Amino acid sequence: MAKSVVIIGCQWGDEGKGKLVDLLTDRVSAVVRFQGGHNAGHTLVIRGRKIILHLIPSGILREDVLCVIGNGVVISPSALMEEIKMLEQQGILVKGRLKISSACPLVLLYHVALDRAREAARCKQAIGTTGRGIGPAYEDKIARRALRVGDLLDESNFTANLREIVDYHNFILREYYRVEPVNYDQVLEQTLELRSNIDHLITDVPMLLAQIRQQNKNILFEGAQGAFLDIDHGTYPYVTSSNTTAGGASTGSGVGPLHLDYVLGITKAYTTRVGYGPFPTELKDDIGIHLAKRGQEFGATTNRPRRCGWLDLVALRRAITISSVSSLCVTKLDVLDGIESLHICIAYYYNGQRFDLLSDSKILDRCEPIYIELPGWQEITAGITEYDQLPHNARSYLQKIEELCGIPIDIVSTGADREQTVVLRDPFAI
Ligand code: GDP
Ligand code: IMO
Ligand code: MG
Repeated sequence: MAKSVVIIGCQWGDEGKGKLVDLLTDRVSAVVRFQGGHNAGHTLVIRGRKIILHLIPSGILREDVLCVIGNGVVISPSALMEEIKMLEQQGILVKGRLKISSACPLVLLYHVALDRAREAARCKQAIGTTGRGIGPAYEDKIARRALRVGDLLDESNFTANLREIVDYHNFILREYYRVEPVNYDQVLEQTLELRSNIDHLITDVPMLLAQIRQQNKNILFEGAQGAFLDIDHGTYPYVTSSNTTAGGASTGSGVGPLHLDYVLGITKAYTTRVGYGPFPTELKDDIGIHLAKRGQEFGATTNRPRRCGWLDLVALRRAITISSVSSLCVTKLDVLDGIESLHICIAYYYNGQRFDLLSDSKILDRCEPIYIELPGWQEITAGITEYDQLPHNARSYLQKIEELCGIPIDIVSTGADREQTVVLRDPFAI
């Protein structure tokens, strides 16, 4: 039976989704991105060779697999072209393997200008966005004025609509934010120049995916960002502008919800966050610094240092619920090697009361984590591929996560490389 597996981040992004998508792509015919844009940074390491992808699905390193970008993704034509070029320079074939929905909204220069102007105007309340124009591009989509990939096919209409949109956004840039407007001719020229590289990639994505399923072939859906960056379910307003939870795989690709068979939720063995916003288990002490250093916690898109802290099971359990996560993959276990005592947050204190569940993310920055303590391990787990070879305390740590989350761990990652993985259960074989 064909199976569709959705991979999503269960924290604040950068859980290691790219690594897992690449690993599991050998089981599928297509990998589908369904939300986000080039704010994502997904790292793939294959026998020491590192590639960071932003827009192109992480299946691209496996030949014969289709890489599909669904309608839920916002596309910067220039970022897409740059990425295709980077891959082709490395000998990776992209042409003929990449398919894009005509309904993807375009991210253009004025979105970037607006993103940056808004962040600057917010001062201390800044979100800490990636500055890629993602929020403003989704705003245009919801306001029903976005230019979409399919619009590139009709040059005269595109030219006229672009004029109107540029005028509208330039008014806001000039009159409200008091910053430089964008140059219409430059946006038009740049976009039309890239058009000939994009128009042949346009496909009816829902029908393509339905056909693949009818042919009894597996599909992998690749989430970007993570549960608490979700526009509806995340730590609003410190979120991204799309639905990062599993339901987004359906609306963002045109595959009905009954055809999503399994959700693999990715979590680090600890927690990280880039940008501003609440983070109850954040560590500003030596252990936080140690995690950042050992885990090389720098953003794959902006290179900003990631904030680090202990694993938060209140948050993780919520992520599991809102995305009906079937099982977990725990990444970066090796980063915990050598830490004497490990903490896992199992509840919060707020206003003198204990909460095992949390519904209001607005109070998150005033919640005190309640921890359980577990003994660490001194052995090296980096590169281990067999569960039995993991130190006893590492297995106890993983078992505790399973017990407190109520779902199994299918996969454990012990290093950045594709091979450095323990597969306990294959999501496509269950
Ligand atoms: P994504 O956005 O979820 O795909 O994750 P990123 O690529 O932004 O960040 C994850 C980082 O951790 C990357 O640098 C990966 O190469 C690295 N990584 C993934 N899994 C592991 C692991 O198990 N151990 C270690 N040490 N690094 C890992
Ligand atoms: P991947 O797919 C981590 C964060 C930004 C900021 C907020 C809003 O690699 O996990 P945006 O530019 O989207 O408007 O920024 O979301 N953010 C991410 N953090 N990983 C990501 O993607 C992210 N994409 C956006 O740092 O806090
Ligand atoms: Mg990332």
